[in-house]
Amino acid sequence: MEKEWFATWFDTSYYHVLYKNRNNEEAKVFIANLANYLALPPHAEVLDLACGKGRHSITLNELGYAVHGVDLSANSIAEASKHEKEGLTFGVQDMRLPIPNRSFTAVFNLFTSFGYFDDTSDNLKVLQSVRQMLDDKGLLIIDFMNATRVINTLVTEESKTVDGIDFSIQRNYDGTHIFKDIHFEDNGRDYHFTERVQALRFEDFQSLLSESRFEILRTFGDFNLSPFEAETSDRLILIAQKN
Ligand SMILES: C[S@@+](CC[C@H](N)C(=O)[O-])C[C@H]1O[C@@H](n2cnc3c(N)ncnc32)[C@H](O)[C@@H]1O
Repeated sequence: MEKEWFATWFDTSYYHVLYKNRNNEEAKVFIANLANYLALPPHAEVLDLACGKGRHSITLNELGYAVHGVDLSANSIAEASKHEKEGLTFGVQDMRLPIPNRSFTAVFNLFTSFGYFDDTSDNLKVLQSVRQMLDDKGLLIIDFMNATRVINTLVTEESKTVDGIDFSIQRNYDGTHIFKDIHFEDNGRDYHFTERVQALRFEDFQSLLSESRFEILRTFGDFNLSPFEAETSDRLILIAQKN
């Protein structure tokens, strides 16, 4: 069977080239703000679900939490694992499946790491797995794009040169998903990848979370934790609690 798009593109070196300027400082500020708001018990065990190269996991660990970061991309986990130490571990894991014999006080799913699946019922599989891994009254923090704003302000064409590679990017919205087509050439070979994310809005998360028996406690609209406004906010950040 052909691999799903997110299992290939996110695992290529080109993905890391294109997004190499992803902001670590911003990630640090966001995690500090979240930690301050959540006030988890000291040394709480937390999971960074779809952690990439671990930028949020590292900051959570610096704040004293015991962090496990997981991602489907073996290459990203190999990078993240270079930072492993006491209280900071990483592993390859598909977020649709629970990690056997592990439980957490909080699960973080950050930077639009949801809604990738061909079969949208997989969204519920993710939430059910999270539920299974969470302690009673455990917290799930989802940081997703604000789909309303992204659709209203969609940049359809973009060019970007990173490390000598010219990336040509086209975006479009088909009524359910936002597609990002990425074309480039390297060493005489043409490449084409498509990122595909479901344009989930607050109401979609409301039904998904309620169906998986989570209660939404709070929403925020950016990394400084300003209130969420569908028309203007940069992000949709949800704090949900296992019922
Ligand atoms: C937009 S990136 C965000 C990564 C990280 N949270 C960050 O902020 O740097 C999305 C991540 O989701 C991961 N991912 C995609 N599908 C996954 C799956 N089924 N299970 C686990 N991780 C997955 C990708 O490999 C990628 O690292």
